[in-house]
Amino acid sequence: MGAIKYELIKECKQSGARLGKLHTPHGIIETPIFMPVGTQATVKTMTPEELKDIEAQIILSNTYHLYMRPGHELIKRAGGLHKFMHWDGPILTDSGGFQVFSLSDLRNITEEGVTFKSHLDGSKHFISPELAIEIQNALGSDIIMAFDECTPYPATYEYAEKSLERTIRWAKRCKDAHNNTDNQALFGIIQGGMYKELREKSVKEMVELDFPGYSIGGLSVGEPKDIMYEMLECTAPLLPKDKPRYLMGVGSPDALLEGVIRGIDMFDCVLQTRIARNGTALTSEGKVVVRNATYQEDFTPLDPNCECYVCKNYTRAYLRHLVKANEMLGARLLSYHNLYFSLELMKNIRIAIENDSLLDFKSEFFSKYGY
Ligand code: GUN
Ligand code: ZN
Repeated sequence: MGAIKYELIKECKQSGARLGKLHTPHGIIETPIFMPVGTQATVKTMTPEELKDIEAQIILSNTYHLYMRPGHELIKRAGGLHKFMHWDGPILTDSGGFQVFSLSDLRNITEEGVTFKSHLDGSKHFISPELAIEIQNALGSDIIMAFDECTPYPATYEYAEKSLERTIRWAKRCKDAHNNTDNQALFGIIQGGMYKELREKSVKEMVELDFPGYSIGGLSVGEPKDIMYEMLECTAPLLPKDKPRYLMGVGSPDALLEGVIRGIDMFDCVLQTRIARNGTALTSEGKVVVRNATYQEDFTPLDPNCECYVCKNYTRAYLRHLVKANEMLGARLLSYHNLYFSLELMKNIRIAIENDSLLDFKSEFFSKYGY
């Protein structure tokens, strides 16, 4: 049967955008969607009730972090990740294929897997495609990722090709190792660096393996945005229409719009909660650095066009005060607003697709937000 089902509702007449529903074991997700990031089994500063308030439909968590601490076996004994963290909605986990490369030191990649030193205590570990699946099976997330190598940028054609071919062999091993297909959907990850031919080859081979969904990885790794959009343009149209497409680690407001226009259904990004913790808000008029002196006596809401709890009840001057005084509530309120803002943007994007007016919506959004 399969754990998930993607229902394509309609395609926008103005762009490549798709409106859909993704049925998962923990509920139905309306796509395109933004997924708040809960790396360590918590979306930083947000309770699950607050996530429900802002209508988060699915959250993301990380195999690498949970494997290192507290360990997947402990989470399994707790009854799985949903129960452990008190979130009963859908969860997607990343495989560790990215975090091992970006966080740990002294990694060594072989055909078997990756050896690395923990970012916590320097202890030595090894993750193979089979172990990445075993960990995600223990966590019980609704959507799991194949173990891949996120090809660094820049990379030579030769390196990107070898890396991609290994990622394909690893994807096959992940598929063989995954035996909980009724409850957890395994996505294959497209790589290929910034080379069109390699991206096309990656799609072709991953699609042959017939995954219930496809992720596009190896982007937003330092390349110019135009190159990322070109890579999406040569990748997304080749993917099967009846499967969801997830652009990994991308989620700034402009990239959400540009990604949806190019046929992406799912996004995640740490930006929203990360910039909140250093005192920056995403608003309909662009980024607001709340910390700045300009807002010292600004008794207006953070975003006059936002209906969230923060914008209804607090002023920029108060938020600036909290941030300046290093009060935890500052990070909480800004995280709440930034996530609300991004989820609301996705909701408006879905409405615009419904009305075949996404390009009009985009012009209007950027006329206020700035590009
Ligand atoms: N998150 C952002 N990019 C990537 C990627 O290329 N691979 C994986 N596994 N996760 C990611
Ligand atoms: Zn708000």
